[in-house]
Amino acid sequence: VVEFRKYDSSKDKDAAVRTWREVGWVEDGEKQTELVAQFLDVGRTLVAEVNGEAESLAASAPGTVRYLDERLPFAAVTAVTTSRVARKQGLAKRLTARLIAADALDGALVSGLGIFEQGFYNLLGYGSGGYEHWLHFDPAQLRIDYRHRVPRRVTVEDAEAVHASRLARKKGHGAVNLLPVELTEVEMKLAKEGFGLGYFDGPKGELTHHLWFNGSGEQGPYSVWWYSYQTGEQLLELLSLMQSLGDQVRLLRMREPRDVQLQDFLEQPFRFRQLTQKAKYENRMKATAYWQVRMCDLQGCLERTHLATGPLRFNLRLSDPVERYLPEDAGWRGTSGEYVVTLGPESGAESGRDASLPTLHSSVNAFTRLWLGALPATGLAISADLRGPEGFLRELDELLRLPTPKLDWDF
Ligand SMILES: CC(C)(COP(=O)(O)OP(=O)(O)OC[C@H]1O[C@@H](n2cnc3c(N)ncnc32)[C@H](O)[C@@H]1OP(=O)(O)O)[C@@H](O)C(=O)NCCC(=O)NCCS
Repeated sequence: VVEFRKYDSSKDKDAAVRTWREVGWVEDGEKQTELVAQFLDVGRTLVAEVNGEAESLAASAPGTVRYLDERLPFAAVTAVTTSRVARKQGLAKRLTARLIAADALDGALVSGLGIFEQGFYNLLGYGSGGYEHWLHFDPAQLRIDYRHRVPRRVTVEDAEAVHASRLARKKGHGAVNLLPVELTEVEMKLAKEGFGLGYFDGPKGELTHHLWFNGSGEQGPYSVWWYSYQTGEQLLELLSLMQSLGDQVRLLRMREPRDVQLQDFLEQPFRFRQLTQKAKYENRMKATAYWQVRMCDLQGCLERTHLATGPLRFNLRLSDPVERYLPEDAGWRGTSGEYVVTLGPESGAESGRDASLPTLHSSVNAFTRLWLGALPATGLAISADLRGPEGFLRELDELLRLPTPKLDWDF
């Protein structure tokens, strides 16, 4: 018999830590155990109990997501794990479905996560965002027309300032904030070779821009786990600071910042990629779509959707695969239904159907991608579960000309 219930640290901590060791997320040791416990006490954690032990676990944390100039309540699925003894019983899927339902009932309009592989979370209604570029480059190659000042060291003791700096960073369409400070603190502590550099330029000495690295050794590589800045000038200062490590460090790994092409700053990027092929300090760029999102509340999302043009009205037949994994009596059963949708400066959705309007058929996976601006309607009609009259799809393309969505926060 399987029981789904809330995580209770006094009872489930050991089983949770054991599972995380089994899946290779943490190593042995008291410090790691405490960090897992601290992490699971934040936000919402659900477990599936098998033979009296919590063998599967799903956790989420509250946040916000930007949609153009609006800020929507967001829930981040921060962990899903099943121990070695309970795989392929449908525990992870059913637990995560319950987690999304609880977050939706709590007011989350959008849920998001990082994937371990494509396909699994699609079963729960998630659709992929755009590609993220990760660059691996020699910092000595950076050409920055800016001279950085001497930064201050940022350490785990500064976790609160670091978290505040992340929350206050320059944001654009799609930007996510995870609200609990503990998430930043635990991540900083989990970095085996973590170190930070930053500038406390705020009016009250707040940390305005910083880099958080993980890496060691004489030549690296170092990974930039995250960075934050509020202005373009601050980004240039951070890049110049990275460049200053280049007399010693041969490789940095970093996610490309929003709205900036990092390759613009690199000296002869192709030459170095060719010269370092298959080498220890290989210079390259990787593009991967590794985050996914799903709407939890169609009406709620559309009420906060203010587009530059429109309105366009249409029928939406929305399907939502998550309902398959929820109990009959769940208070939230996904978003499937028939709606009349308006998209424009003021948007909305009502239940029903209007025979005079064109009809769009879509899964919530594909519709979320459309709404967020990950891909255009005519493209989704080719590669995803979305269809409608060709002319109408082209109208949607024109209406939903949104900035490239970026969460800017890996979790
Ligand atoms: C991922 C994980 C949580 C799944 O746990 P689980 O309880 O075995 O999952 P479920 O039983 O609910 O689902 C397993 C099913 O999903 C299927 N599945 C797995 N990956 C899939 C994919 N990429 N696309 C489609 N289906 C997939 C499996 O084939 C299996 O189907 P079956 O039961 O019909 O054979 C577990 O493997 C795990 O803990 N992995 C290590 C940690 C991890 O990576 N967690 C995810 C973090 S994002």
